[in-house]
Amino acid sequence: MDNKIITVTSPLLPNLDELNVYLKDIWNRKWLTNNGHYHQELEKALCEYLKVPYISLFTNGTIPLLCALQALRITGEVITTPYSFVATTHSLWWNNIKPVFVDIDPETCNIDPDKIEAAITSKTTAIMPVHVYGKPCDTKRIQEIADKYGLKVIYDAAHAFGVEVNGKSILEAGDISTLSFHATKVYNTIEGGALICHDKEMKDRIDHLKNFGFSDETTVIAPGINGKMDEIRSACGLLNLKQVDKAITARQHVANRYREALRNIDGITFMNDMPAVHHNYSYFPIFIDKEKYGMTRDELYFEMKGQNILGRRYFYPLISDFSTYRGLPSAAKENLPVANKIANSVICLPMYHALAEEDIDRVIDSIKK
Ligand SMILES: Cc1ncc(COP(=O)(O)O)c(C=O)c1O
Repeated sequence: MDNKIITVTSPLLPNLDELNVYLKDIWNRKWLTNNGHYHQELEKALCEYLKVPYISLFTNGTIPLLCALQALRITGEVITTPYSFVATTHSLWWNNIKPVFVDIDPETCNIDPDKIEAAITSKTTAIMPVHVYGKPCDTKRIQEIADKYGLKVIYDAAHAFGVEVNGKSILEAGDISTLSFHATKVYNTIEGGALICHDKEMKDRIDHLKNFGFSDETTVIAPGINGKMDEIRSACGLLNLKQVDKAITARQHVANRYREALRNIDGITFMNDMPAVHHNYSYFPIFIDKEKYGMTRDELYFEMKGQNILGRRYFYPLISDFSTYRGLPSAAKENLPVANKIANSVICLPMYHALAEEDIDRVIDSIKK
């Protein structure tokens, strides 16, 4: 039996010959970072591709979250989701902000807008939702609540590269959105990330913040950080941008094959495409109902692992269960029943642009058995 390891993802890699041309050019220019030629080119190209007016490149997807909170001067309490990657909540903690967890919607796995208002206190200054798996949050409802209470909205859009609703980028929602270009993402620059905002003034402020706060040679406007993206990774980003559409189409094919094969398995559910949404197929989560399926999530997860099929339990444990956060009142299991149920039933199946047909078959067979 072919027992080759099937990983949960595999990175989109730039064409090596084309990268070599760019590398030679970078070597000739001898300008490696600090808003160099390729950095500027990538910002321009991404604004166009993503249909957004202002973008600031970053060294990863975590520092733009930190900078967004600083730039909008967020303090006190921020309402957020426990069902995400830890970086979302860590960005609050690093800014001395208290996270307030709100339960999620069972259909989208995103923060449940119906539960946000009850969590607002006099200390609340912002909402930080996440477009989990790239599925759009209910941005309209969230904005209505934010406007009613005078709150800022920062979207952690790490998973939502290229996602559009009715032909409009999801990254336009809220005051600021952030992206991750980590190697495991639909679009990567090896490590990398970006911040999307609505006006030039904010873009300038962010560009200063990610460069230690320098606004010119001798002026520091705020205690900034080093979040800059370098020229080599910007060049990788330009090359990967050329192939990302093809990669998303290939991912869609994988999603369609999984859906077709898993549709009639009792106890296995998955997410369907949403109307009017251009998806990026960044993840393919399935949810296991142990009574109907006859196995628990962990039994299936380890069974697959035994067959060298490496799914991932994204997102488990919940952020609210990590030691830093579990003492918070909002982290209590009774406050987060849906998130707890989903975290205990989810497996993200292998999903990437180059997943071979026979490997898709192996994943499907491991679940059908
Ligand atoms: C939802 C979410 N937020 C933030 C991040 C942090 O991004 P990075 O790893 O690029 O710092 C990630 C992923 O890695 C993520 O999945």
